[in-house]
Amino acid sequence: MIRLALIAVLALSLTACDQNMDVQPKYSGYSRAPLFRGSVSRPPPANIVARGDLERERAVATKPALSAALLDRGRQRFAIFCSPCHGAGGDGDGIIVHRGMPHPTSYHVDRLVTADDQHFFDVITNGYGAMYSYAARVPPEDRWAIAAYIRALQLSRRAAIEDVPADARASLTGQP
Ligand code: HEC
Repeated sequence: MIRLALIAVLALSLTACDQNMDVQPKYSGYSRAPLFRGSVSRPPPANIVARGDLERERAVATKPALSAALLDRGRQRFAIFCSPCHGAGGDGDGIIVHRGMPHPTSYHVDRLVTADDQHFFDVITNGYGAMYSYAARVPPEDRWAIAAYIRALQLSRRAAIEDVPADARASLTGQP
């Protein structure tokens, strides 16, 4: 009998643990707040700018000057974010495509060779067809860097030996 009573007391103390923070006086988003005569979520004051927004907008609008460092950054970011689908050479044959993702257009078709850098920037920002937006993962500076690297990939298929500075040609044509 005593044992039964003990079990009952223990069971009761366990149910007491179920109290959680759902049960408390609080406002949920957009509920009415009598103090403000409106919703709990207050509208921001006029003319304020979210922290970092102006810098981000500037980076979107300013295409950085081409440099070896920019290309290097683009190559690295491309390898991380784009090559899984577009392939290391931009042909659209990345590993994810081998596993069933729709085959993206090759970067080497005429339409994309003649497209401007802005198009590549915009595709990364907004996505394109079956491709999801990378705006949350690739900041604007890196989108420009990737666009510059894609230009280099495209050029690599269409370049002639005359495009290489004369003093560097020997390193390409010479015997090892
Ligand atoms: C998960 C796979 C995937 C990843 C990762 C991916 N893409 Fe794509 N991308 C696609 C697919 C699929 C298409 C074709 C979409 C369509 O035509 O519906 C595409 C199309 C494109 C196009 C062609 C747009 C046109 O005008 O035809 C560009 C440019 C592009 N992607 C750039 C990028 C860049 C740059 C990255 C990296 C930041 C990237 N993609 C990452 C799958 C991907």
